[in-house]
Amino acid sequence: MSGFGRILILGASGQVGRELRRSFDGAGELVCPGRQEADLAAPERLREMIRRIEPNLILNAAAYTAVDRAETERELAFAINAEAPRVLAEEAVRRNILLVHYSTDYVFDGSRQSPWVEEDEPQPLNIYGASKLAGEEAIRETKARSLILRTSWVYGPHGSNFLLTMLRLGRERDQIRVVDDQKGAPTTSMELARATRSIVEGAWNGRYGPPEEWTGLYHMTCGGATTWCGFAREIFSRGGHLPGRPAPEVVPIGSAEYKTAARRPANSVLSNEKLKSRFGIALASWEQALGEVLSQAGAGLAAR
Ligand SMILES: NC(=O)c1ccc[n+]([C@@H]2O[C@H](COP(=O)([O-])OP(=O)(O)OC[C@H]3O[C@@H](n4cnc5c(N)ncnc54)[C@H](OP(=O)(O)O)[C@@H]3O)[C@@H](O)[C@H]2O)c1
Repeated sequence: MSGFGRILILGASGQVGRELRRSFDGAGELVCPGRQEADLAAPERLREMIRRIEPNLILNAAAYTAVDRAETERELAFAINAEAPRVLAEEAVRRNILLVHYSTDYVFDGSRQSPWVEEDEPQPLNIYGASKLAGEEAIRETKARSLILRTSWVYGPHGSNFLLTMLRLGRERDQIRVVDDQKGAPTTSMELARATRSIVEGAWNGRYGPPEEWTGLYHMTCGGATTWCGFAREIFSRGGHLPGRPAPEVVPIGSAEYKTAARRPANSVLSNEKLKSRFGIALASWEQALGEVLSQAGAGLAAR
């Protein structure tokens, strides 16, 4: 064992978890149980598993992320997104270790005109947001040494996300209608994982002082903001369509024209000022970060 010792990564098959695995490679002994061994829907079994594994650091990238389905699976969403994080935090307290957990911009109702700060009152519009907020509160209640990192519009070269959907539709259609009245910051799984590694390392080495000075809630997204429509346009302006064919026309529509089971906030742009002032860290702008994912996702698509 070296570095951080034994690192438990939950959700290692997901977008963020996969990149955490890469970013923490060589930082210690990575233990990455899948859903079979560590089912967050069964929090008490999760507790037993943690006691068996005896980690020195827990990175929780596992979550119930099906925003629309959550509207009809409230209980499951709350078990995974709220009860399980409470168990993780209780075990972190018991072992006196750090828990890193991710949360979402969807804790906000979108009514603010400027970027949301950590002190703003959350008011989720949907069950997913409510379950993630309950997870944040559960962790805080335990007083665990923790970093709760709220992020937004996560995508990467793998999994299920907006970018991959656009790349697929761009090859199938001449015209794509995309919502233009929801504003946020597309954030890559790679940027999140690298920033997480950097902060955890600094905290571990005492660079930020004692835990009570840095434990808590932080917004962590790529810089800048756009709408889903703006994001789609940028993807196609960078060549996210079939070579030799024109890019599809991206037509802006309102949320009212694209009905979903869950309501989404109009403005969920998060301010990253606290992250920057406390840890001296800023993620790349969303436009810059897009390039890295496109080059990786493009290679994967060409092979399909
Ligand atoms: N995606 C976004 O746009 C977004 C936006 C804001 C915040 N976030 C937050 O960022 C974090 C990472 O999200 P992501 O996009 O990487 O999610 P993701 O790609 O959907 O991956 C979710 C991970 O959780 C695991 N998981 C789901 N249910 C589980 C269960 N019952 N037991 C064990 N593992 C389970 C999945 O395992 P399987 O492979 O077995 O399904 C997968 O590894 C989450 O906390 C999420 O709430 C995401």
